[in-house]
Order: sequence, then structure tokens, then C-alpha cells
Amino acid sequence: MNIGFFKDPLGVRLVLASLLIGSVLSIFSTGIQLVSSFNRQKQDATAIFEQIETVLADTLEQALWTFDFDQVNILLDGIAANEDITHVELISQTGHQWDRGTPSQSPVQQVFDLTYDQPDGRVQDLGKLRVELSLDAVFERVRQQFWVTLLTNLAKAYLAAVALLVVVNQMITRHLRNIADHVDETDISTDKKQLVLHRAKRKVADDLDHIVTAIRRFEARVVSDLGALKTEVVERRKSEEQAREALSVRSSFIGTMSHEVRTPLNAILGFLHLIEIDEAVPERQRHYARVATRASQQLLHQLNNVLEMSRLDSNAVMISTRPTDIRRLARQWQDTTTAAIHFHQKDIEVTLDVDPSLDEKYELDGARVTQIVTNLTDNAAKFTQSGNIRIAVRPTRPDETSDSCPDGGLVISVSDTGPGIDEAQRRRIFDRFTQLDAGLNRTHGGTGLGLAICLELSELMGATLSVSESARDGFSTEFLLTIGCPAGPEAQND
Ligand SMILES: Nc1ncnc2c1ncn2[C@@H]1O[C@H](COP(=O)(O)OP(=O)(O)OP(=O)(O)O)[C@@H](O)[C@H]1O
Ligand SMILES: [Mg+2]
Repeated sequence: MNIGFFKDPLGVRLVLASLLIGSVLSIFSTGIQLVSSFNRQKQDATAIFEQIETVLADTLEQALWTFDFDQVNILLDGIAANEDITHVELISQTGHQWDRGTPSQSPVQQVFDLTYDQPDGRVQDLGKLRVELSLDAVFERVRQQFWVTLLTNLAKAYLAAVALLVVVNQMITRHLRNIADHVDETDISTDKKQLVLHRAKRKVADDLDHIVTAIRRFEARVVSDLGALKTEVVERRKSEEQAREALSVRSSFIGTMSHEVRTPLNAILGFLHLIEIDEAVPERQRHYARVATRASQQLLHQLNNVLEMSRLDSNAVMISTRPTDIRRLARQWQDTTTAAIHFHQKDIEVTLDVDPSLDEKYELDGARVTQIVTNLTDNAAKFTQSGNIRIAVRPTRPDETSDSCPDGGLVISVSDTGPGIDEAQRRRIFDRFTQLDAGLNRTHGGTGLGLAICLELSELMGATLSVSESARDGFSTEFLLTIGCPAGPEAQND
């Protein structure tokens, strides 16, 4: 017999449940059996009253009528001889009294009225016979029966439970274990082993057959999906490889372009500058050289923007942070902006507002931050006709700190008194090739890539770039760049 199911929790639970149910049912059926046995035996015991009524009463009446007291004694002894009868009492009309046994106040008793039918039809009262019956013997017999019946019933219930368990194990549990082992151990991508039930084939499929069929179908589906998936993975790897190759070709093209185009352009700019400062060259030609210089610078600016965008697309731009003296950087930004104002020949004041509570150094990529700020100040210088441009640097306020930088970071703002940017346009200006005022842009040139590059660079360094909803202090536009956390003490010391 396979008793493996006793070792697994389900088998043990089945055994315990069967035993519990078996015990309860056994006790219940024992109770029913005993009650019915008690009633039967009680009925048997009280049958003596009917026998006295039908067999002895007439003879006793005859003996009393004829004053045959010997006969009366014999009859009373005969009644008292029954083991269940505890007391017999006869009181005659003539005052005689007979007693057998001891009075027991038993609830089971009967009184017989003894009479004699005279020939003239009158009925003569002869006395009363009282018979008391004890059920102690019945109770004793039922008590003895109790244990035998209970133990027999328990044994039957337990045997039935074990037999049922064996049958359940043979018919169901061992197959379920077999199915579980198969699902657990079979690697369907490599194993060709099919799930089979170890039992005789059935004419009509049952639930186990349905489970096996469902698992086989599922396995077939998984195998076919797996095949398709493998093919897809191979194809994707191939395309990834091709994309990587294309990217590297593109990167090297960009590098070459950057070098091949910028080098001659710088040479052109250099020669144009020489022409501009050569006093031997007539003024008219020097003016042409200045115009050509401006056009070449614009061309270089546009070329730089396109190349930068390509480098961002190829993930070729790396951010490398180091503790940076932000005050020094801010002064450089002010100088560059002032130079841009001179370039545009405008009368604009450039102010620098550095918060005194700023830390000495901040952990950031100075070159990339400068690239963003320069783009912002270039725009300010380009689009503002007169008034002010302000560059401000301050630590983040508590309400501006983020999860990634709970200790706070740095906010750089560039504000100007130019035409301003209305709410609807604020969302668009960071899109590539977006320029708001066609007229202005025709005058100023540009590709509409500056802010898109700034936004991507700021995302790359985990910073945020936005336009203020309401610029203050008389400014019409304010760009905010929120970046990085202050460098740690050791970084500040180096
Ligand atoms: N300070 C500003 N004041 C008013 N408008 C601005 C300001 N900065 C940007 N803009 C608007 O946003 C548009 C996009 O700016 P972005 O820097 O991306 O492009 P661009 O300056 O026109 O060209 P590029 O930067 O490529 O030379 C600008 O064309 C301009 O319309
Ligand atoms: Mg710009």
C-alpha cells in the first residue's frame, strides 16, 4: 500500500478530518443504538404486567375467593421470582396482607384490582395487587453495551476512513503529485517528456484526463511562443547590433564633420579678423570683412547647435561633475553676457546677484551649466532691446527641494526686460526648431535649437529648466535652472 500521502500535509489533514468526522458519527450512532436498545429492553421488562394480567390474575382471584391462602402464597412467590420485580404487595378486602421483596418507590409499577364475578352477576371486590418493577438491570445491561457498541462503531469508522484515504490516494492524490512533479521538474524548452498519468486508460475521460490535456496544450503553446520569442530576440539583437554600428558611424561622422567644418570656418574667421585690423585694407573692404565675420559666427553658432543636438541624440554627451566655485563661474557668465551685448550693440545693463549664503563649492558639471546659462543669456541679449539682464544665483528654498536632493541645491536665474513670453508659448519654446516671433528671428537668425539643447542637457544632469510664470522686479522673462546639491565637506576642501 502506498502510504506516501501520510507524509504530505494534505494527506495528514485528510486523515485527521476523516478521524474527527468518523469519531463524531460513531458517538452519534452509538447514542441512537443505545436509546433504541434501552427502549426495547424496557418494553420487554414491562411485558410482565401483561402476563400477570392475562395469566395469573384470574387464578389469584379464584384463590382469594376460596380463601386458599397457600395458593395465594405460591402465586405471589411466582410473580416475585422475576428478577426485574422488586416488590409485590397484595391487600385483600378481608384485611389480609402479603408482601414480597422491598418497596423501592420505582416509577415503573402497576396496581391490579382483583374482583370476583358472582353467578348472580354481581362483582365482588377482593383486594388490590401492586407490582413494582426495577429498571436497574436494564440500565446495567445498556451500560455494558455502551463500550462494546462505541468501540465497534469507532473501529468501523476508522477503518472506513483509512480505506477511503487509500482509495483517494490511488485514484487522485498520487496523480496530482505526479502532475506537480512534472510541472516542477520539466524544462519545456528542452525536455520532450510529455505528462502521462500512470494508470489504465479510461474509456470516458475524467477530470484528471482534462487536467492533463489542458497542461499538454498549455506546454505546446508555451513551446511555440518560446520559439517565436527566441526568433524575435535574435532579430532584435541583430537590429540592435546594426543600430549600434549605425550609431558609431554617425558619431564618427559627427566628429569628422565637427572637425572638418569648424577648422576651415575658424581659419576663415581668423583671416577675416586680420583683414578687419589691417589698416592697409581700404575701409569699404574692412566693412565687408566685418559683415562676413558676423555671418560666419552665426554659421558657426548654428553648426554648433546642430552638432550638439546630434551628439545628444547619440548619447555621446557625458556629464562629469566636480566641486565647482559657483561665484567665479557667475562672474564669467556676467562677462560673456556683457560681451554679447556689445556684439549686438545694445544699451543694456547686465547685473549679477549672488546670494551671500551660497556654499563655497557645488558639485556640478561647470562646462555644461555654463553652456545652458550662455544659451539663456544669449537669448536675453538677442531678444531684449533695452533695459536690464540679471543673472542671479541662490540656494534652493525649502519648498523647492526634491527627493533626490533633500538638502537643497542651486537655482540659477536669467531675467530680462525683453518682450516676454506669454503663457501659451511658454510650453512650446523648449521644442526643437521652435521660434516664436518670425519677424524677430529673421532679424536675429538662430535655429530654434538653443532651448531644446538646454532642456536635454539639464535633464541629463538631473536638473530642471523652466520659465517663471510671473517674472518679478520689473523683468518680463525669467528662466530658472535648478540643479545639484552642495558638495560634501571633503569636496569643498580640495
Ligand atoms: N529671453 C527671451 N525673451 C523672449 N523670447 C525668448 C527668450 N528666449 C527664448 N525666446 C523665444 O523662444 C524661442 C526659442 O529659443 P531658442 O533659444 O530655442 O531658439 P533661438 O534662440 O531662436 O535659436 P538658437 O538658440 O538656435 O540660435 C526663440 O526663438 C524666442 O522666440
Ligand atoms: Mg537661443
